[in-house]
Formats: sequence, C-alpha cells, structure tokens
Amino acid sequence: MTSLAAKLSPHATLEIRNICRSFDSSKGELISILHKTQDLYGYLPPDVQKVIADELDISVSTVYGVVTFYSLFVMEPRGRHHISVCTGTACFVKGAMDVMDEFKLLLGIEPGETTPDGKFSISNLRCLGACGLAPVVMVDKKIYGRVSHDEVIKILDDYKDA
Ligand code: FES
Repeated sequence: MTSLAAKLSPHATLEIRNICRSFDSSKGELISILHKTQDLYGYLPPDVQKVIADELDISVSTVYGVVTFYSLFVMEPRGRHHISVCTGTACFVKGAMDVMDEFKLLLGIEPGETTPDGKFSISNLRCLGACGLAPVVMVDKKIYGRVSHDEVIKILDDYKDA
C-alpha cells in the first residue's frame, strides 16, 4: 500500500487523477474509483476526495456523502490489522455487541480508532453475507465465525507477532 504524506504530493495527485481517468466517468463509477483509490492508499482523506471531485467534475459534498455512507470507506489511516465486527441483525442478535465490547476493552479503542502502536483498528460492519456464522468478525481478509466474547483474546493472539 502506498503511503500518503500529510499534504498530497503532485505524484499522488496524478495517481488519483489516473485512477479516475481509467473509468468511464459518464457511467457513474464513483464507488469503483473510491474502491481503487482506497486500495492504493488505505483511506480517503479530504484532500483525496477533493481531487476525485475535481477530476469527475462533481461536488466534494457528493464524494464525501458516498465515503461516509458506506462503512467500508474510511477517512483515517487504519492499523496494520483491521478488525471489522459485523453488527448486522443476525450478528447483533447473536451477541455481536458483546464481542465488540471485548475488542474495545482489550485494545482500549473505540470503533473508527487505531491503537497508539498502529497495530489494530476496529470498526462496525453491516452484514458480511455470512449470517449463518453469526456473530462474524473479519480481521483483514480472514473471517471468524460464531465468535464469543471470550474468544476475542485468542483472535488477537493470532496477530501478536504480525
Ligand atoms: S448480519 Fe452479520 S453476517 Fe449477516
């Protein structure tokens, strides 16, 4: 993943413009462009949103509205390991909030935050499409199913050296 400087460099600006130009802007490809840009940088800060809005000739508030609507888009850098706790209906009913509370307690952070060492970040996610495994937790791209709050410490242990 490419890292972003505090102020967007001309090179990063060009990279983002090239991503925009690789899509057909007449087809409303904003979500695909945001995906590809987030894949490259890991998050979508306001400077990046501004370049995308400018390139697509749409308002910054339109881009911001999409970024904030979809929970998979983030505006802050994430930890090296990102933990998503599904809080969709099936997972909620099966105790997802207890699981989330345990992550919050053990990591000392709230959803949307990153641990001070930059190792973990956490967020809520709406239905991962694996409701039969509820409650579901995703760490990076790995899925953990039927997670109970006392298994949270074991999940974190999987990443202790990574
Ligand atoms: S509600 Fe959690 S996977 Fe569907």
